[in-house]
Order: sequence, then C-alpha cells, then structure tokens
Amino acid sequence: MKNICVVGVGYVGIVTAACFADLGNSVVALDVNEKKIEDLKNGKMPIYEPGLKEVIDRNMEAGRLRFTTSYEEGLKKAYFIFIAVGTPSGVDGEADLQYVASAARSISEVMKKDSIIINKSTVPVGTGDWVTDIINEHNPEAPGFSVVSCPEFLREGSAIQDFMNPHRIVVGSLDEDAADKVAQLHLPLRAPIVVTDLRTAEMIKYASNAFLATKISFINEIANICEDLGADVTEVANGMGFDSRIGPYFLRAGIGYGGSCFPKDVKALAYMAEEKGRHPQLLHSVMDINTDRRRMAVEKLKSMFDDNTLTGKKIGLLGLSFKPNTDDMRDAPAITIANLLLKEGAQVLAYDPIAMEEAAGILPSVKMVENPYKMSEGCDALMVNTEWNEFQQLDLERIREAMRQPLVFDGRNIYDPNQMNELGFKYRGVGRGYNGRKINEESA
Ligand code: UGA
Repeated sequence: MKNICVVGVGYVGIVTAACFADLGNSVVALDVNEKKIEDLKNGKMPIYEPGLKEVIDRNMEAGRLRFTTSYEEGLKKAYFIFIAVGTPSGVDGEADLQYVASAARSISEVMKKDSIIINKSTVPVGTGDWVTDIINEHNPEAPGFSVVSCPEFLREGSAIQDFMNPHRIVVGSLDEDAADKVAQLHLPLRAPIVVTDLRTAEMIKYASNAFLATKISFINEIANICEDLGADVTEVANGMGFDSRIGPYFLRAGIGYGGSCFPKDVKALAYMAEEKGRHPQLLHSVMDINTDRRRMAVEKLKSMFDDNTLTGKKIGLLGLSFKPNTDDMRDAPAITIANLLLKEGAQVLAYDPIAMEEAAGILPSVKMVENPYKMSEGCDALMVNTEWNEFQQLDLERIREAMRQPLVFDGRNIYDPNQMNELGFKYRGVGRGYNGRKINEESA
C-alpha cells in the first residue's frame, strides 16, 4: 500500500484516484473546488463515466479513498503526489498552465517530507522542469522532491477500463530512483513501461494524440474522395485495417474529432512548433480538415433538400456529446453543427441519452426532447452526431412515419445505406459514395 495524493478531480484525476485506491493504495483526492469535493463526499459524480461511481463507492467504504480541499490534509502522508489539473487552451492555442502553476505553489508550501511529484496532465514539453523551478523558487526550504512525467492515455467513456489496462506506461525522469519508484507503483497494471527523460515523456503524449487525430483527418479526407468516386469509406477502412502496419483503429470517418483532448492538444503542439520557428504543415492540415467536417455536414444536409435550403426546416439531432458514453460537450461537433443550422434558419431539436442537461446550457435555442421518437415528430430531417448504442436499433419505421420528410444524414455511419433506402429514407452517410446504389443511379 502506498500513500498517494491526486491534485485535481477532473476526468484524469478522479479516475486516477479511484483506480489507485482500487489497487489497494491509500488515496486522497484534492481539489480547490469545494462544490465538487462536497458532491463527491456525498456520492455525487462530477462527470458521467461508466463504472466510476461503483469504484468510488467501493473504495470510500473501504476507507482507501478520501476527498479534501485542503493541501495540508492531502499531503499529510502522501509520498506520490499526482498533478492532474486542467490545462485548457490559451488565446493563441497554447496550453494555459495557470492551474499547474498554482498546484505546484500550493504543494511547495505544505510538503513536509521527501516526495515524488508526478505530472499526469497533458502539459507542454518543458513543464516538468518548470514545475521543479516553481517549487524551488516558491519554497527554497522545500524538502527533497523529484518531478516525474507520467502522461495518461485513458479515453472518456472507457476511462476505468483504459486506466486498468493501459497499452503502456510512460515514465519520464532523469532521477533513476524516482523513475523506478513510479514504475513500481504501476506494476500491478502489467503494461510495458517506457522509462525516458521528462521532456521526451511529455512529447510522447502530444505525439500520440496528434497521430490519432491525424488518422481521423486522414480517413475523413479519404471519405471525401470516396464520395466523389463512388467508393465506400467504411469498407476502405476495413480493408486497410488488416495491414498491421496501419491497424484498424481510429479510421472511422465522420463529422470529425471533438472533446477536451485532440482539438486542444493538436493546437498546442502546433503552437510549440511555431514558437521554435517551425511551420507544422501536417498539424495545420489535420486541424483544417477537422474544422471543415462540421461545415461539410451542414452543407450536405442542405443539399439533400430539393429546394437546397434549411430555412424553416425542422431538424432533429440524434446525439450531442462528442462521443458516446459521456456527457462531455467540450468542443463537440454537434455544438458547431447546431449553431450553423440555426444560422441557416432551421428549427433545431435534439435528443441525447446523457448529455442533454449539459448541452441545454450551451445550446439554449435547441429544443431538447426526451426521446428520439418524440423528437422525430414533424421533422424534415434527422442528423446523427454521436454513435450511441441505443441509436443502432431504433424503430426506424416508426421514426420515418413520424417525420414530415424522411431525410437522414448519418454523420457517424451507424446505419446501412441499403437498409435505409429500403425503409424509404433519403439517406446520406459519410464517404459512402455509392450510397447503397450504383453510382450511375444516384450520385452522392
Ligand atoms: C483521447 C485519446 O484517445 C486518449 O488516449 C487520451 O488519453 C485522451 O484523448 C486525452 O488526451 O485525455 P478521448 O478524447 O476521450 O481520448 O476520446 P477518443 O475516443 O479518442 O475520441 C476523440 C474524438 O475522435 C471523438 O470526437 C471521436 O468521435 C473521434 N473519432 C475517434 C473519430 O471521429 N473517428 C475515430 O475513428 C475515432
């Protein structure tokens, strides 16, 4: 059993705290947000994440997991101090490190004994050294400590599963003893451990996210070409994925990536490169392609109407969150899409299994409806933004009958074009040039 403090109970922090407690450690999760901590003490989760509440309840009951707003209390016994605070985008796309700095200062004020400070947040290359400087400058009397980078690779929606079954653990530090201790702490996860220096570890995180974002923009570019040439991008991706050098993952074409990570991290990496005088063309293309997806979705929907206008049309959105199994609306494509539709003069309704409450504050002009069937009533078109499981087997006949016009734009390719055509829908997916018919019968 190790004594751990996790600073910051955002997505990464709360999952890190819960999972390390579940592995048998004694964990204090700390946040300066009193409401969040109060809610957690009362069993209320700050985020929707499958399985998280069960793990937290179990470990609170066992006395292995506690919550506090006090650094004194959090650091009293801690040897491993994780920094997992937010690093939002600054005005120019750079990562805003004010929360990291303030956590480092607070830690330096109360740390009483030797400890290891582990950066879990996605932070610009060089931040580990900077945190060391902040602590030394803020409290020259601080006891011995070492800063280690250990970036997190979990995904929202499968966070517990990802944390407990990582593809790899990256440990960055030139302090061999500290690196070894952090590696030992992760041994129960039975993953390959990559030990390297601080800056390289920080870069591994950015490079990984940027690469995954690149895969998505790549397949979205291919999707555009498929549409023009009458091919089906879902089958192209399937055919490519069997090549182990390519792999089958992150090749789902659609309305582009969103969330709190890819958009922010690709931007921050480009910013870091530019600061050094580089012109990171590939990263800019990845971002441009992604931004275009949202506009493209609205243009495509518009072109499905004979009168080529969205003015006065009633459009129902299936899904709002940036991906399934989360209520996270940060940089969700649905936000841009809904706003563009409204700007075009459409009336916009939406249904999402989990994210409607969160979305209502962001999209006040969109009418949230309690289920997809009610939402479809009188709609001129539906648009799929999130591939929630429950959309796969909707009673589509019932939906079609409820609609004023049976148009569906499927931004996540969850439906089969042939079946949709058979059901009497005018259907468009993404990158499905043949659209269930031969190219000469109907061009995409
Ligand atoms: C991403 C990474 O996958 C995690 O490894 C990383 O730890 C995390 O960022 C982070 O830096 O914190 P996450 O943003 O939770 O995780 O979600 P993903 O499952 O990666 O999806 C991101 C976006 O890409 C979603 O909008 C999703 O719809 C989109 N996507 C994903 C596609 O459009 N196509 C795909 O094939 C895959």
